[in-house]
Amino acid sequence: MAHLSAPQEKHRLDYQPPHYWIDSIDLDVDLHDSATRVVAISQVRRNGHHNEPLILDGEDLLLSKVAVNGQPWSAYLAEPGKLTLSQLPSEFVLTIETQIDPAGNTALEGLYQSGSAFCTQCEAEGFRRITYYLDRPDVLARFSTRISADKARFPFLLSNGNRTGSGELADGRHWVSWQDPFPKPCYLFALVAGDFDLLQDSFTTRSGRRVALELYVDKGNLDRAGHAMASLKKSMAWDETRFGLEYDLDIYMIVAVDFFNMGAMENKGLNIFNAKFVLANPQTATDTDYFDIERVIGHEYFHNWTGNRVTCRDWFQLSLKEGLTVFRDQEFSSDLGSRGVNRIRNARLVQGPQFAEDAGPMAHPIRPDVVIEMNNFYTLTVYEKGSEVIRMLHTLLGEDAFQAGIRLYLGRHDGQAATCEDFVCAMEEASGRDLKQFRRWYSQAGTPVLTVRDEYDAHQQIYRLHVSQSTPATPRQPEKLPLHIPLSLALYDEQGRVIQSDGVAVDRVLDVQEPQQTFEFTGIGEKPVPALLQEFSAPVKLDYPFSEAQLTLLLGHAQNDYSRWDAAQRLVQNWIHQAVEQLARQQAPAVPVALARVLQQVLQDSRLDAALRAEILTLPSESSLLETFNQVDVDLLHKARQQLLRSLATAMQPALLSAYRSCQQGWEGLSAEAVGQRALAGVCLQLLSLADPALGDELVACQWREQSGMTLRLAALQAANQAQLPCRDALMAEFEAQWHHDGLVMDNWFRLQAQTPVAALTKVRGLLSHPSFSLSNPNRTRALVGTFCSANPVAFHAKDGSGYAFLAEILTELNRTNPQVASRLITPLIQFQRLDNDRQQLARQTLQRLAGLPDLARDLFEKIERALSQ
Ligand code: TRP
Ligand code: ZN
Repeated sequence: MAHLSAPQEKHRLDYQPPHYWIDSIDLDVDLHDSATRVVAISQVRRNGHHNEPLILDGEDLLLSKVAVNGQPWSAYLAEPGKLTLSQLPSEFVLTIETQIDPAGNTALEGLYQSGSAFCTQCEAEGFRRITYYLDRPDVLARFSTRISADKARFPFLLSNGNRTGSGELADGRHWVSWQDPFPKPCYLFALVAGDFDLLQDSFTTRSGRRVALELYVDKGNLDRAGHAMASLKKSMAWDETRFGLEYDLDIYMIVAVDFFNMGAMENKGLNIFNAKFVLANPQTATDTDYFDIERVIGHEYFHNWTGNRVTCRDWFQLSLKEGLTVFRDQEFSSDLGSRGVNRIRNARLVQGPQFAEDAGPMAHPIRPDVVIEMNNFYTLTVYEKGSEVIRMLHTLLGEDAFQAGIRLYLGRHDGQAATCEDFVCAMEEASGRDLKQFRRWYSQAGTPVLTVRDEYDAHQQIYRLHVSQSTPATPRQPEKLPLHIPLSLALYDEQGRVIQSDGVAVDRVLDVQEPQQTFEFTGIGEKPVPALLQEFSAPVKLDYPFSEAQLTLLLGHAQNDYSRWDAAQRLVQNWIHQAVEQLARQQAPAVPVALARVLQQVLQDSRLDAALRAEILTLPSESSLLETFNQVDVDLLHKARQQLLRSLATAMQPALLSAYRSCQQGWEGLSAEAVGQRALAGVCLQLLSLADPALGDELVACQWREQSGMTLRLAALQAANQAQLPCRDALMAEFEAQWHHDGLVMDNWFRLQAQTPVAALTKVRGLLSHPSFSLSNPNRTRALVGTFCSANPVAFHAKDGSGYAFLAEILTELNRTNPQVASRLITPLIQFQRLDNDRQQLARQTLQRLAGLPDLARDLFEKIERALSQ
């Protein structure tokens, strides 16, 4: 890919400490829609003895003044992306005045407008769009901020830390000043101005300090703020009890905005959230929305210690804060809800989209080595696999040693910018465990494969497991070393009980460390059925030739919820793989009699939570099945999966109907029990609609009519849409008429349209001009375009190239307006490794065309270049 000015790669090993420190910065921000004036007065100090210039980062800034120690300074050079200052004293006050255009900022990075409010997003490198600065996380400064704006339009002016003053100005303007006592990197800076409804509450910490809690939402949304506030208080209490960590300021603010590129941001004392992760009441939000709000509120709160008090030295260390904080939010969700269900959902995310990332052109270690655009590395690998790496440490060390390691890490590095290596060192010292080999999880990309074979010696009562590991080559990492892999296992007898050896149940974690290793179990009285990789104890692919009988036994009897779910997934995968082969040979797939029988047993097993039954009965998605093939024709995969759904539904119809009816007994309210009943009812309704559309139509219409909660109404709509029931169009129209004014609710509707089994592309194209749709809103764009490309593989990967051409059109537009969103949407187009050759060619051609775009953003450049060079 020839390119005139190819963006520069940055390498982890090139890290150098900054030539200067900035100890404090006073920002004065005078807000005007298109001409906001920013004055930054910083205390700067040379780091060591040298004559290097001070090179500040800056993007899209209009420079109007530079002064050193109060005197105009002319020894500077302003170039695209930077400001170089020379002949500086060793310590000085630097004054920089710039002008920016928040109203014209469609990239939603830096200072921008969201609806009628101003807000900021500075992670990773957005602060440089507000002023010239050392925009790197290892420069920690004390921030004070003075904001002035029109008082009627912007009665609330917020920034980090404590409010220190306010006053009136001429022309109906006013000002408020803030001071953050904790030194911080500039990516944690935030500013908000607007008119909001405010929900106030408070939390008293374990040591008795009262913290004011303030939640700012768009006017008229107070009735949707309660769940987020309750979640915040639960987060604060949980971090005290489980991690011994208390909040450190007297105020904690959260602002919900409509325009936001990601989920939420942990700015010190002033979190800014995508409204999707704040607003909920039973009429507008589903149970999944409720769950996600609690999780994301927790995540951002937990960053206060893992991210803010101890931050990252450089962006290659991102997983230091994100992997650890995801681990913490997962534990929070598991302690408050169902551990089993949480583990299964996280495993789905890793085994589907994360494994796909590992197998694609963007594969990278959780601590990347080379980056062009940092925004491209807020990935499933850094976050989710990063969390799995922390979880493995927890498994290897146990809760007590793990917590001792956390205490050592936080105590040692409080107020500092640290590295992943610092974290592992603390864990190593606190536990006394040797983590030399374990460190490879940080440096090695790709998904390891664990191949397990076994043999049973009845005469000597010995059971042997032969375990080998290997990791496939990834771009720029052809050679892989063996990893330290915790392999959790239990052995079961034919009755489904854990086997005892010398009176002790065989249920333990093995340390897999060699390329090939054999584990021996003595005193095993019968040939066991092994439950391998219990609790998904490592982010690896497990290759073991399970028989159908073994999987059936594990599905029915395994003590670990994940293992039961995994057994069901493997039964389904095996059937799908056979069916795809049969379909390719123009043969009809076998009827899944045995599978229907065992799944029906799960459905009727009242000892299991409804939520867990729903998880087990939810078939893997087409995209996650794609990941289990080397190469496959997506049309055949779709056909096979549809056929399986219909056959299972038909075989289980009476049982599904009675389960559906009994779910209705307990599905009211917000209790975990009711949430589980609704989830199971949804799965049943979906299958019943496929088995018998007339019956489905009746049940769906009834559920739709009688329920006002969004979870049950949407489940009805989803069943109608997937099975193309007669009532589908009428219900979709009713939903639209009721909710067209509410973007967040309409996202559900856009998602359904994008997943429609017939003529989806025509629908999606038409909806681009729907009054509730806007390509400038990332939530809307992800709901309609993102869902079409990632959750409707048959339509997106259409053989005539229409799906790819559509995405290319959208990306051409977003490349100019919002490269971050563009770069997330392109993922299904660059992950073509599992597709047949024709489609791979088509995808490449599309990428080649995109590569020729004038002013291709670095975000897209990096991904397209990597994809095409594969
Ligand atoms: N730190 C944020 C989180 O943990 C991630 C984030 C929010 C982000 N907004 C962003 C990352 C914008 C890059 C760009 O969830
Ligand atoms: Zn985070």
